[in-house]
Amino acid sequence: MWRWSDLLPFDGSADYPLPVGGTPLLVAARLNEWLGLKSLWLKDESRGPSGSNKDRATAITIVDARRKSMAVIACASTGNVASSLAVGAAAVGLTAVLFVSRDGVSPQKERFMRAFGATVVKVRGTYEDAYRLSEAACRTFGWYSRNTGINPLTVQGKKTVAFEIWEQLGRQVPDHVFVPVGDGVTIAALGLGFDELVRCGVADRIPRLIGVQADGAAPLAAAYRSGEQWKAGVANTYADGISVGDPQFGTEALVAVRKSRGEFVTVTDNQMRHAVALLAKCGMLFEPAGAASVAAIIRARAMLIDSGGRTVALLTGAGLKDPRWWPDERGATFEVSPDAELSALEAIGARVRQRMTTNHVVSL
Ligand SMILES: Cc1ncc(COP(=O)(O)O)c(C=O)c1O
Repeated sequence: MWRWSDLLPFDGSADYPLPVGGTPLLVAARLNEWLGLKSLWLKDESRGPSGSNKDRATAITIVDARRKSMAVIACASTGNVASSLAVGAAAVGLTAVLFVSRDGVSPQKERFMRAFGATVVKVRGTYEDAYRLSEAACRTFGWYSRNTGINPLTVQGKKTVAFEIWEQLGRQVPDHVFVPVGDGVTIAALGLGFDELVRCGVADRIPRLIGVQADGAAPLAAAYRSGEQWKAGVANTYADGISVGDPQFGTEALVAVRKSRGEFVTVTDNQMRHAVALLAKCGMLFEPAGAASVAAIIRARAMLIDSGGRTVALLTGAGLKDPRWWPDERGATFEVSPDAELSALEAIGARVRQRMTTNHVVSL
C-alpha cells in the first residue's frame, strides 16, 4: 500500500510491520463462464493480515497513532474493523479497545479479536450504540479513535485499492465496480481514488460505482432512489459486515456514487449465501458481506452482458474467520476402519462417481 505514498498523507512503510495492500485482481474463469460474462475481475481484498479490506485503513491509522505517541487505539465495529485493529495493534504493541454490538458480533470474530490480546467491549445495543460509546470513551480517556467518519485517514488508506485496480488492468479504469456498502467508507474511498487518478491525468473517467446493500440494511439504496436523506433504521441481515442501519459515511458514499453515475442495488441474505457457495465452487471462500458484490452481479448480469463493459467485483472479507457461513451443501465425510471391507469403500466410490458427473451443475 505504501507504494502509493506520494498520494497518501505520509509514508508508513518503515513503521508498519505487516504486509498490506497489493491484493490480487483475479479472473475466475469458471465463474465468468457460468455467468456468461467475458470481462469480470475479482479484486480479492480478503488477502490482508486479518482477511478484510479494513487492513488498509488500520495500517495508516496505526502509523498515525504511533507518530502521535498514543498507546491505546479504539474503534467501533460490526466485526471486521475490530478484527483488523486487533491484529494491527498486536503487531506494533499498541493496546486495542474494540466496541461491538453484543447481539451483532459473530462469536468467532470476537474470539479472533481476543486471540490477539484485544479488549472487547460488548455493548448491549446496536452497532450505532457501540459507535457512540466508543467515541465517548476516546474523548474521556484520550484514546486514539480509528473510527470511520471521525478519522479522515481511513478513507485515505482505502482509496489505494482504486490505484491498484487501475494498475492491474493495464493502467485503465474498468466500466463498473461493484462494492459492498455498510458505513460507506469503502465506496467513498474508491470514488476518491479514481478521482485522484483523473486529477493526476492518468485516467479520463471514473468507473460507475455500484453500491451493494443487504435488503434488510439498505438506508443508502433507499436514499439514492428517493434523493432524500436516509432514514436511520434497525439493520436486519446476517451479513454482519454490512449490517448498518445508520451509516457513518453515508453522505460521502451517496456523493461518490452520484458523481460516478452509478447506482445502488440490494441483495437478499439468500442471494449472498448463494454467491458464497458459487465462489466456493471456484476455490475461494468469502463471508456473505464480502461476497455481496458477486450476489449483485448475478442479479445484474443481463445488464452487464448487454453493456459488455469491464466489471470489477470488490470482495471485501474472507470466509475463514467464521465457519457458520461456510457452504455445507455438497461435501461428505466417511469414517472407515483401516481394514475396511471392499463393500465400505464401494459407497465412497459411488459418491465420487456421482460428484464427478454433477460437479459442474450450477444454478443461478
Ligand atoms: C466484509 C465487509 N464488506 C463490506 C463492508 C462495508 O464497508 P464500509 O463500512 O466501508 O461501507 C464491511 C464493513 O465492515 C465489511 O466488513
